[in-house]
Amino acid sequence: MTYSRYAIEDTFIDDLIAAYQANYSLEQPFYFSPEIFEEEFIHLFSRQWQFTDHISRIPHKGDYFLFRIAGEEIIVVRGEGDTVYAHFNVCRHRGSRVCLESEGHVKRMTCPYHAWSYHIDGSLSYARAMSEDVDRSKLALRSCQVRVFEGLIFINLTAEGTGAVPDFDSIVEPLRPWLAHADLRHTKIAHVEDFRSKANWKAAHENYFECYHCPGAHPEWMKAQLHALRDGVGTESGIEKFENVNRLWEAKAKGLGHMVGNMDNSRDHSDAENYCTQMVFAERMLVNVDAKDLYNSLTPDGANMPTKLLGTYKEDDDGQVDWGIGPTGFGYTTCTATALLRITPRGPVDTDQVVTWLVHEDAQEGIDYDVESLSWLHSATIAQDRKIAEDNQAGMSSRVYEPGPYTELESGIPGIHKDYMRALAYGRALRAGEKP
Ligand code: FES
Ligand code: FE
Repeated sequence: MTYSRYAIEDTFIDDLIAAYQANYSLEQPFYFSPEIFEEEFIHLFSRQWQFTDHISRIPHKGDYFLFRIAGEEIIVVRGEGDTVYAHFNVCRHRGSRVCLESEGHVKRMTCPYHAWSYHIDGSLSYARAMSEDVDRSKLALRSCQVRVFEGLIFINLTAEGTGAVPDFDSIVEPLRPWLAHADLRHTKIAHVEDFRSKANWKAAHENYFECYHCPGAHPEWMKAQLHALRDGVGTESGIEKFENVNRLWEAKAKGLGHMVGNMDNSRDHSDAENYCTQMVFAERMLVNVDAKDLYNSLTPDGANMPTKLLGTYKEDDDGQVDWGIGPTGFGYTTCTATALLRITPRGPVDTDQVVTWLVHEDAQEGIDYDVESLSWLHSATIAQDRKIAEDNQAGMSSRVYEPGPYTELESGIPGIHKDYMRALAYGRALRAGEKP
């Protein structure tokens, strides 16, 4: 079942999709329109697997947090053992929110309005004075599908068995070897920051997929991330410098049995069932280099930190996996820490960019790490990205805005747009009963 507030039959969206020009930013309505946002909900957000948070956020039975996406609130709650449930936070009596706090612990979920209560699995437990004629088994909270991959909780808003969704295992499987050494299952949350922005999620997304803006916007990133010479500066000498140093590093990393290079992330677009298949990518490369003008770790003073290695790493090779399970979950995993980035739309011009830092589950604050140094790079960078996205959004609202051309250093974006247009066009055609 696909939930939606209303179906958009108007052809203006089809006309906009047809007008899409590869290698150009999108037409204005894609960044503002509530109608297009609703279409995205139907064909993308509610069909694709959404990253929510790390499992250590809900370690015990009854622990929960609220995940917000596109005007919906989902209760993500720990059940018995490793079980995790996710339910729409909408009472089946008259629709009140059930859980009011952003996180907490429950034995049962009790609606504040007339005190209907629900078991952790979502089934109705108690409804005072309700007639015996009413079938209580039909009044469970609306549930989502849940999968946990390497300690990362993903949900799918489409209820089990009610509609085609991309196959989760085949999406994440290629990523497994890239994260195996880090063993994110045995990490814990050291720090969280939400850089919520007044921007469309695609403005944040596009910004994430290019480093053309890095030299002007991210002084910290330019120092700490050597790949910015290739992806941000992009001159022949910049690329050569990165490749020479990275090649030497690769020999060392391979010798330690660590991954290097890129995942083959080609995607199968051959059938309608897969029309909203999800991107997955990974690249493992040198973070930076021991040189006077560059840092040798991700901390402000260049110290290696945290000091406790993740998972089965035996040595810190100063490498980093830059990975993602699109469209909402991204990560930077070094040998000692992971910064998770979740880009999640709340509304057409309201986007969460939440950064969550993970460290080894036994690492101790003040001994193995301090939050300020740990969070320094990504905190500074995502705060800068929020400002960029908001300035971009404000300019795009002008009557004179029109799509502009991308450079070679933004070549990651057109492929994403192509998939996006395809998903919208296929989804709309399928719903209209036409063969796409
Ligand atoms: Fe929840 Fe009435 S709306 S108990
Ligand atoms: Fe940026």
